[in-house]
Amino acid sequence: MKDFRVYVSTNEVPAQALEIVGSIAKVKVYEGKAAPPRGTLLKEVQEVDGLFCILTEKVDGELLDRAKKLKIVANMAVGYDNIDLAEATKRKVMVTNTPGVLTETVADATMALMLAVARRVVEADRYVREGGWKLRWSPMMMVGSDVYGKTLGIYGLGRIGAAVAKRATGFGMKLLYYDAVRNEGLERGYGIEYVTFDRLLRESDFLSVHVPLLPETKKSVGAREFALMKRSAYLINTARGSVVDEAALIVALKDGRIAGAGLDVFEDEPVNPKNGLLKMENVVLAPHMASGSIETRTAMAVMAARNIVAALKGEAPPDLLNKEVLNR
Ligand code: GLV
Repeated sequence: MKDFRVYVSTNEVPAQALEIVGSIAKVKVYEGKAAPPRGTLLKEVQEVDGLFCILTEKVDGELLDRAKKLKIVANMAVGYDNIDLAEATKRKVMVTNTPGVLTETVADATMALMLAVARRVVEADRYVREGGWKLRWSPMMMVGSDVYGKTLGIYGLGRIGAAVAKRATGFGMKLLYYDAVRNEGLERGYGIEYVTFDRLLRESDFLSVHVPLLPETKKSVGAREFALMKRSAYLINTARGSVVDEAALIVALKDGRIAGAGLDVFEDEPVNPKNGLLKMENVVLAPHMASGSIETRTAMAVMAARNIVAALKGEAPPDLLNKEVLNR
């Protein structure tokens, strides 16, 4: 059994998950703090049967060509835009992700960003710490915008979008959504209305992005879309940075075209220190950590590990994305 080899591209995988992979394969872990340099990754995959990776690793045709023995790529993330699925399928390499386990954690973080930006929580914390609060309590000090009773526009009603909708009902929010695929069951369940994309933009007080990054969704929220939004609206993004045209967002925020943004994800990660967003008070920023609870990150790692074990045993991994490879 131990003839198998697996490369793990980060040394932050909980021991529990490494033990699972170690039960079937010799494991080599990349020890660097940043993502493995491309050259290292291309070299390391040459002899491995499995790759346990995270979203910073680009798994494309070039990498797959080098990895002649590769049977499985287990991405420790639900999003898999870092992997060229078609190229993997062509080479009969299984690809898995981690759906479901992070849904509630990401939905919590989405609400946190929404509340933080509308109620100016981060700005207020800075204000108090930096000694800005010198006089008495005053009626207009740090006033923000209500979340309760407002209209939430969900762009992408998948698992995470639906979990956000569920939370938002507790805030008495009116719920709208747009998705390429309509889900009438959820519409009834949450009292959420299906609308066109433009109506979603026009009517939302909060627009929350929950679509995957696909060619059709790339930069799908840009200058035209910001122009349709209310000037008092907030953009929340816990999906992928490139769904939003970040340059257009910066202009929209500077021009007061929209009121603010809560962003966990960016076009380039880590964010460039010169990124205009860093200087703005009306944005709350986070380092792509929406699924970052210890419970959820551990569950994601274990899930990825189990997918590797199943694939190497010759079984169908539970979270297989390209089922076509099994029928070849
Ligand atoms: C994180 O962004 C994920 O896709 O799991």
